[in-house]
Amino acid sequence: MNQPNVVESWIVNPELSKTDYEGKQPPVDNGHARLDPARYHSEKFMALEWERLWTRAWLIAGVESDIPEPGDYLVYRIRHEEILCVRQPDGSVKAMYNVCPHRGNRVVFGERGSLQRFTCAFHSWQYGLDGGLIRIQDEETFKPEVVAHGPRLTPVRCETKAGLVFINMDDEAPPLEQRLGLPEGYLEQYRMDRMHVVRHVVAEWGANWKNGVDAFYETYHLHAIHPQTQTVMADIGTQYDLYPHGCQRMIVPIGRKSPRVPDQDEVDESLQYMMASEGLDPDAFQGSARDVRAAIARHKRQRAKALGFDYDHFTDGQLTDSWATGVFPNVQIGMHPEGCFLMRFMPHPTDPQRFFYDAMTLFRPAADPNYKAPDWMGVPEGTDLTGATRPDTEHVPFGGEANLGEVLDQDVQLLNDVQAGTRSRGFRGALWGEQEQRLRHYQREVDRYVNGEK
Ligand code: FES
Ligand SMILES: [Fe+2]
Repeated sequence: MNQPNVVESWIVNPELSKTDYEGKQPPVDNGHARLDPARYHSEKFMALEWERLWTRAWLIAGVESDIPEPGDYLVYRIRHEEILCVRQPDGSVKAMYNVCPHRGNRVVFGERGSLQRFTCAFHSWQYGLDGGLIRIQDEETFKPEVVAHGPRLTPVRCETKAGLVFINMDDEAPPLEQRLGLPEGYLEQYRMDRMHVVRHVVAEWGANWKNGVDAFYETYHLHAIHPQTQTVMADIGTQYDLYPHGCQRMIVPIGRKSPRVPDQDEVDESLQYMMASEGLDPDAFQGSARDVRAAIARHKRQRAKALGFDYDHFTDGQLTDSWATGVFPNVQIGMHPEGCFLMRFMPHPTDPQRFFYDAMTLFRPAADPNYKAPDWMGVPEGTDLTGATRPDTEHVPFGGEANLGEVLDQDVQLLNDVQAGTRSRGFRGALWGEQEQRLRHYQREVDRYVNGEK
């Protein structure tokens, strides 16, 4: 893989550098209705979602850094479909169904690879990187009328943005820019195009995909399910913002205690650990717990030059906090200048009560090769951070040990129980509060698709 010069890669588009994306968005009135809980368990609703949502919405199929060179491809699996996203000789990315038009065999196997042409293993028909037909084996044995059907790999719409590869199975859908409700430049400022995958886990969980999204779109449950976060995350200080077309985000202050914690001054062990992980000496720290977040931001700016980081266009909050951004319908990106967590909540092929938690950790190398990924990134010891090797995806079967850390283990257990409850006859639909406004916002958009309004 070609590595860009790391120092040069931190220089950000100056047009984006003056833009402040931190501001609170105006409120959106999504009403107060209880939505029918069948959405979490019924096969009928799952079928409607397939017909009207997944096959009509723009979906994040992968990251561009996984396919840097012409002929590099990745396979996006969603329910029973497989979509092949291929880097073209002109640098663009084209997508096509991974199915041979002759008799329907899969054309490539595996999740990623690199080829200069695609040869079907069944009867050796060949296709170019753009999916066009190169050769029919024994073509003279086909009636010209059969060949006249013009076989090729069936194209799927594909656009790239901010280092992400989007696909849309609907030929009639509006272009991505009309459907991605985030402000222009919002995703681009993090330069995910210069980040690469250092960890990729796909784990099967026991809940509907929307129960998964719901649990990751609010901090309301932190005090109850993840009490260990109370000393480093200001859960009820979270800012929630809603954007058009079901997109939304939350800004969770990190390095600051929850207002629920009585002692707001003691710099306890977890704050000390956080400081140390960011390169700050906790023993030399003089202030109270209220000062830690600002101290981390200050320290990051001070050492930025030595590491080749350019934080000039980021606010202090962006250096410390979690900007968890929801890309409709099924994605959350935890955005940090040094790296991003791209989480996709993928529907199960057949079971509305299962989903795949698909999480990629993206990392951007520093100029100083001794710079290690901060602990909060959860990158396993010994991981190659240079981008030279793309780690294999770790597949974790249902109930398997995912090694994703304590917080996610807690979520796995929680979601089993929530799924069981949302299926009960006694559950009449969620009663969402304002800390859960992201949930209502994207779920209302899901309904617009399912009801045929989009
Ligand atoms: S199915 Fe692909 S060549 Fe026959
Ligand atoms: Fe959680």
